[in-house]
Amino acid sequence: MSAILPPAERVWWNQPIDKLEFTWIAISLVWALTMFVMMIWWHLKGDQNLANETYRTTPDVYMSKAQAVVDKYTVRTDATDQQTPVVAPPAGSDIYLVARLWSWWPIYELEHGKTYKLHLSSMDYMHGFSLQPQNINIEVHPKYDHVIKITPNLAGTYSIVCNEYCGINHHTMAGRIYVK
Ligand code: CUA
Repeated sequence: MSAILPPAERVWWNQPIDKLEFTWIAISLVWALTMFVMMIWWHLKGDQNLANETYRTTPDVYMSKAQAVVDKYTVRTDATDQQTPVVAPPAGSDIYLVARLWSWWPIYELEHGKTYKLHLSSMDYMHGFSLQPQNINIEVHPKYDHVIKITPNLAGTYSIVCNEYCGINHHTMAGRIYVK
C-alpha cells in the first residue's frame, strides 16, 4: 500500500504497510524515545533545568504568607519605586513572590551563595516569571504554589519580566531581585 496514494480497497487496514510509511513510523518512534531519554538526562545533567515542586493554594492563603515575610524582613522601600518594599530574609528562608495585574511584589534582596526557597503564585491570571539575564522561565498560575530552590551565584540586579500576555499593561509588569 502506498503511503501517499489513497488506499486501493475500502478496508485498508488489512493491506500490508508500505516500506516508506513503515520507515517514517520507525524513525519517529526512535526519535520519540531519544527525546524521552534526553528529558531524564537533562534533568540530571542540565544546568538550567529547575526541579520545582507545586502545591495547591489559594490567593488568600498565599498572600498572607507573603505578607508575613514582608512584615518581618522589610529593610527599606526601594529608591526608584517608593511603593515597593525591599525585603531581606535570612538565608534558607521561604520567600514568596506575588504576581498580579501588573506587578511582582515585593523586591527581595538576597545574598549570593546562599540558598532560598522561592515560592511563586498569582493572585489573578496566569503570568510568566522570566528572570533576566539568567533566562529562567516559569509559568505562574493562580491557586498553585510553585517552589524552586535558588542559590544566586552572582551579585547584581536581576529583572523579572512577565512573559505571558496578561492584559493591557502586560508590558509594564516588571520586578526586581537584588543579590549582594
Ligand atoms: Cu503578567 Cu503579562
